[in-house]
Amino acid sequence: MRGWPEGDHTPAGRVLVRRCTEADVAALESGEPPGSGYVRGACARQKEGAVDFLVVLVDGAPVGSAELTHDDPPELKNLGVDEAARGRGLGAAIVRAAEALVEERIPTVAVGQRALVVGVGLENPRAAALYERLGYERTGELSTTTYTYVDSSGITKTATERDEELIKRW
Ligand SMILES: CC(C)(COP(=O)(O)OP(=O)(O)OC[C@H]1O[C@@H](n2cnc3c(N)ncnc32)[C@H](O)[C@@H]1OP(=O)(O)O)[C@@H](O)C(=O)NCCC(=O)NCCS
Repeated sequence: MRGWPEGDHTPAGRVLVRRCTEADVAALESGEPPGSGYVRGACARQKEGAVDFLVVLVDGAPVGSAELTHDDPPELKNLGVDEAARGRGLGAAIVRAAEALVEERIPTVAVGQRALVVGVGLENPRAAALYERLGYERTGELSTTTYTYVDSSGITKTATERDEELIKRW
């Protein structure tokens, strides 16, 4: 499988997408605002069996992540790649690895019975464009999510986001 688990050699370096391990946590946390707790939370969700917490590594260094839920259909959440590493196909590599994991979970089904869902903020057309290039279709299903996050200066804020659901079936 491309990018999972052996890794691909690309101009960006050796790219590997796999589940997060304890060894990745310090490096992932170093890119977080102080007090964010996101990486610890995602690791805890993975331990509980609610998600696969996927990380993309370039030459062994984690530079991005996403969570693949175990819902039916599964959802890919919180996709993010470090700003300095964007535009080199790493976001797409995480999405493809998530699709490969879905295939691993559901090995034999009729075409069109596997599905992966993503929610994309209405104010994020570039992310929507990335997903559409990868075969995801807009559904017109809108949802409103209110969440708290820690900004780059360590201040906890609340935000409300309108998302559209995109889905890929294969
Ligand atoms: C979206 C994101 C994960 C893509 O990662 P990436 O490694 O740059 O992705 P790829 O190199 O595989 O693909 C590049 C495409 O991603 C999209 N993209 C690039 N920068 C982006 C940004 N700042 N925000 C959203 N999408 C972006 C564009 O469609 C881009 O294609 P283009 O250069 O032709 O416009 C990354 O930009 C990111 O972390 N953005 C901030 C968080 C976010 O918006 N997450 C998506 C939530 S649904």
